[in-house]
Amino acid sequence: MRKLEPLAKTHDRAGFDCGSEPLNAFLKQTARQHAERGISRTYVLVEEDAPEAKPILGFFSLNLCQVKSESLTPEEARRLPRDVSGVRLGRLAVAKECQRQGIGKLLLVGAMGKFMEIFEAAGGIGLFVDAKDQAARRYYEQFGFVSLPSNELELFLPVRSIQEALADVGQPQK
Ligand SMILES: CC(C)(COP(=O)(O)OP(=O)(O)OC[C@H]1O[C@@H](n2cnc3c(N)ncnc32)[C@H](O)[C@@H]1OP(=O)(O)O)[C@@H](O)C(=O)NCCC(=O)NCCS
Repeated sequence: MRKLEPLAKTHDRAGFDCGSEPLNAFLKQTARQHAERGISRTYVLVEEDAPEAKPILGFFSLNLCQVKSESLTPEEARRLPRDVSGVRLGRLAVAKECQRQGIGKLLLVGAMGKFMEIFEAAGGIGLFVDAKDQAARRYYEQFGFVSLPSNELELFLPVRSIQEALADVGQPQK
């Protein structure tokens, strides 16, 4: 069975290739250090009973972020204070041999679940993501992410959309 796990030494970071060198390098060289120092957390999707080092099917990383509500659409900004908090989906990648099999979607649902845990404990208006190019922007848009008015490669998914998406896939929303 596939399982989301916090990135650990037991995972085969060296063998991961999503086709994007910056994303591969982040996983191999930076992700664990960032987790130790509280900069971000990285979660990997693996086969639960795979022998070590477990092959990584895909991963995402999350960090806390502060945004100016004026950077949101006017509808979203309404009734919000000037500075608000959210969670940034810093990176999302799927191993080349596993792409187009729904794993990216599975990882996004996992990220939404993690967002809800943070939301329960400390609030947060939603998930933000920086798309690396227009194709990535279109990828995120199909899951309800909306481009910010100031930068179409920065997208936002409000908490209510996350709750709806999790309800659609039958995951409990808090
Ligand atoms: C982008 C990425 C995460 C998508 O993951 P995936 O597991 O391949 O995607 P899914 O199987 O969940 O795709 C679901 C749907 O999204 C669309 N889609 C998939 N990859 C896409 C892409 N690169 N661009 C636009 N749409 C895409 C398709 O419509 C797909 O449905 P289909 O296969 O039935 O046509 C993956 O291709 C990847 O890691 N790419 C390299 C790194 C990257 O670009 N990361 C984005 C970070 S900004």
